[in-house]
Amino acid sequence: MTGPLILGIESSCDETGIGIVRGHELLANEVASSVDQHVRFGGVVPEVASRAHLQALIPTLRRATAAADIDLSEVDGIAVTAGPGLAGALVVGLAAAKALAVALNKPLYGLNHLIGHVAVDLLDHGPLPQPCAALLVSGGHTSLLRVGDITADITEIGATIDDAAGEAYDKVARVLDLSYPGGPVIDKLAAEGNPKAIRFPRGLTAQKDQAKHRFNYSFSGLKTATARWVETERLAGREIPLADVAASFQEAVADVLTAKAVDACEYLGVDTLLLGGGVAANSRLRGLLEERTAAAGITLRRPRPALCTDNGAMIAVLGAEVVSAGRRPSSLEIGADSGMPISTVLA
Ligand code: KG4
Ligand code: ZN
Repeated sequence: MTGPLILGIESSCDETGIGIVRGHELLANEVASSVDQHVRFGGVVPEVASRAHLQALIPTLRRATAAADIDLSEVDGIAVTAGPGLAGALVVGLAAAKALAVALNKPLYGLNHLIGHVAVDLLDHGPLPQPCAALLVSGGHTSLLRVGDITADITEIGATIDDAAGEAYDKVARVLDLSYPGGPVIDKLAAEGNPKAIRFPRGLTAQKDQAKHRFNYSFSGLKTATARWVETERLAGREIPLADVAASFQEAVADVLTAKAVDACEYLGVDTLLLGGGVAANSRLRGLLEERTAAAGITLRRPRPALCTDNGAMIAVLGAEVVSAGRRPSSLEIGADSGMPISTVLA
């Protein structure tokens, strides 16, 4: 067994995650979700999420140390999500991490949640070639990245100019009267539908968008087109073919995400594409990306679906990389940074 033993704490949204890794080896990944408390509001309520983190943190930590069969005194460092995310939710994880760092006299590493999503694949597929490209698709972010050294060298080459892919899933689910979060529900429904039933728009893929928006995404037009289509059918008294709408919407999302990601690899001259974020659990995105990267001679690295949504293991493994690279620990003075830029890996 090699590599530092790292405890990772994640609390940026509605999942309280505690992960423990040794280098690239996953020892524990315990997640307590407050999603059930948000369902009736159709989205995450920050105050409710913060309270749930407070309640879940210690029990989840206990489960993780038991699962990893370690004592907290053995860890080499405490990694925690410093941002981006909900400020009140981040503060809970940060306070716990600082308390542990002080009590155990261990270094603290305040990390970027988004880079954690990208780093989690290290647990499944080992060290990354440098540089590589990454497609990050979460509830709040959709970006194409050039990843050099994952602990210090991240460049965003494109991002959504409006909604994130996950946000589009959640909003379309609401239009279809499906439950929150929308991604998994639409993914499941789509399996029964025809992806060619309705031709929905592919944002920023026109020739005229190439100059300014070659690597940018836009999902708000797709969301509006889907809502309009459903509204027109409802007004006409027709039953909504839910599975076909879900499959056609999902096809539009997966089509643009994958086409631009492959183009980004070619532009960057890299032969490896890394996938990360909650939407990376999507079956069609995973399938289409596999087809298109294979056709282009690009190696695709996809973390197992269970590691795609928010968890503490992704923070722990990024922490292990940061420690192995000899980066300086964060100050105990760091605060929650809800708008942490994607190029800042370590606070
Ligand atoms: O990365 P994540 O867990 O949280 C953020 O950092 O935002 O991503 C959550 C997002 C939600 O919008 C959810 O609907 C979406 O990921 N998601 C999916 C799937 N599972 C989760 N979207 C599409 N297909 C899925 N299977
Ligand atoms: Zn996330």
